[in-house]
Amino acid sequence: MKIAMVGSGYVGLVSGACFADFGHDVVCIDKDQAKIDRLHAGVMPIYEPGLDALVAGNVKAGRLSFTTDLAEGIRGASAIFIAVGTPSRRGDGHADLSFVYAVAREVGENLSNDAVVVTKSTVPVGTGDEVERVLRDSGTPHLVSVVSNPEFLREGAAIGDFKRPDRIVIGAEDDFGREVMREVYRPLFLNESPLLFTSRRSSELIKYAANAFLATKITFMNEMADLCEKVGGNVQDVARGIGLDGRIGSKFLHAGPGYGGSCFPKDTLALLKTAEDYESPVRIVEAVVKVNDLRKRAMGRKVIEALGGPDEARGKRVAMLGLTFKPNTDDMRDSPAIAIAQTLNDAKVSVAAYDPEGMEQARPLMSEVEMMGDPYSAIDGADAVVIVTEWDAFRALDLNRVKSLLKAPVLVDLRNIYQPEAMREAGFAYTSVGRA
Ligand code: UDX
Repeated sequence: MKIAMVGSGYVGLVSGACFADFGHDVVCIDKDQAKIDRLHAGVMPIYEPGLDALVAGNVKAGRLSFTTDLAEGIRGASAIFIAVGTPSRRGDGHADLSFVYAVAREVGENLSNDAVVVTKSTVPVGTGDEVERVLRDSGTPHLVSVVSNPEFLREGAAIGDFKRPDRIVIGAEDDFGREVMREVYRPLFLNESPLLFTSRRSSELIKYAANAFLATKITFMNEMADLCEKVGGNVQDVARGIGLDGRIGSKFLHAGPGYGGSCFPKDTLALLKTAEDYESPVRIVEAVVKVNDLRKRAMGRKVIEALGGPDEARGKRVAMLGLTFKPNTDDMRDSPAIAIAQTLNDAKVSVAAYDPEGMEQARPLMSEVEMMGDPYSAIDGADAVVIVTEWDAFRALDLNRVKSLLKAPVLVDLRNIYQPEAMREAGFAYTSVGRA
């Protein structure tokens, strides 16, 4: 089966490469000539473990190719995926759908066979109806079915998530759409991944509901962590204790500096906009967004407290380990590190940082932060260390060396990757999240 993937960004590229790996004939299309040139040269536009090898292998096997020519790329494709960006629109927080509709229009004008057009981009409820209207208005004589098929890929684990999904959600309104999608996902179906068919609107909502629920789960635990600190509890024990209840589930209960990334912040806001438009408030998610925003700066204040309070902290220097919103990515979007560094800078605390992959992306966002070549040079001469992202490289730091490089042995662990007792024994003034 031939599949066209319009948009060769994160989702398009990962999905395209995985479909090719399952034996489909895939063309990835993008308007950005430089990006396509780099892909031809084997250079990935994003950092995702395993992606370069997956792309190279499938290009070599002749199942994966790249082009800027949409008309050529979609020719003969049974399924045409729209996987372009839907950023938050400046000013009102609505998802910006102009790229999605522009692609739909171009697809309609260039279609040379019957096809299923699939929105893979995260789009608000009702977008599929609008895509259908745009395609109809293009006057194409071909049979087109518009299907919603949201992705649930985590950055850093995207290939595994694609190949072994918990579920595949397909929102289709007709048999043609359902049949083609069953064929598209047949290789995964054989892996026993459940294929859930719903209406198109339900499918569109599932994506937002899933992300908002996960964001809520995290935010709930973050507030439990604050409470643990006050009452003398341990949030990890609380997480374990509630997570063993099958109705709650043990995943996504790690307290930390607040969620960031390309999905949760954007999708929770877009869900609130939809709720507002339909006058059906989702007050829990409103609270989640507010609590999470406040949390990031509060984490900066936590570091200031560890330095002895605002007066003591002024003029001191902090080593920040980890900048990206989570490990195994170079993505800095809405990373707590940005707000934490800002809070420290506002309090006249300087920051020297190290991140294994994110420093290039971080530089323009954190102009006052000094970027260092490795963790120990960031720590050298600092008054405290703060761990913001749980990269594996920070899990086994040489603590004696850390102590000897620091002016005072102060360590703030916002990801709870060290054990309080062990750190105290090692001679650190150690603060973490939700562990009194
Ligand atoms: C998320 C969803 O998991 C994925 O299904 C969706 O398609 C896109 O959004 P991603 O943003 O890549 O994926 O990262 P994820 O691993 O879900 O983490 C999101 C944020 O939550 C990170 O900032 C992470 O640090 C934070 N988090 C996650 C916690 O603070 N605690 C947790 O227990 C889990």
